[in-house]
Amino acid sequence: KKILILNGPNLNLLGKREPHIYGSRTFIDYLKTIEAQFPEVQIHYFQSNHEGELIDKIHEHGFTFDGIVINAGAYTHTSIAIADALSAVTAPAVEVHISNVHAREAFRHHSYLSAKCKGVIVGLGLTGYELAVRYLVQE
Ligand code: DQA
Repeated sequence: KKILILNGPNLNLLGKREPHIYGSRTFIDYLKTIEAQFPEVQIHYFQSNHEGELIDKIHEHGFTFDGIVINAGAYTHTSIAIADALSAVTAPAVEVHISNVHAREAFRHHSYLSAKCKGVIVGLGLTGYELAVRYLVQE
């Protein structure tokens, strides 16, 4: 199986960005533990701070991969274009947020992406990504 993990803006700074909220581990380090847990799964990881690049990746892999794990960062709360891209492709998506967005500012409570996803995992830290992969590979 092939799974795309997509991280949006500022998530390249995981480990040094507001560690009290997002933890002190880098995503590249965490990715190794996901890959070790799912040795049979091809995991393709992509991070971008640019909305259009995230959309291009959804187009590139969204018709051939078995699932998309997406943490679009702040674009979650603003991007109709990313929501449309998820609607356009055939691969099922799971939305992940490291922090519990519902316990934070009101502007983080709405997601344009949730309605286009099979489900949403919020507030479980980096563990949310491995739970999302687990779900998508069993589908
Ligand atoms: C986030 C939550 C968003 O509100 C925020 O803009 C992020 C990270 C999370 O993983 O908790 O960049 O998606």
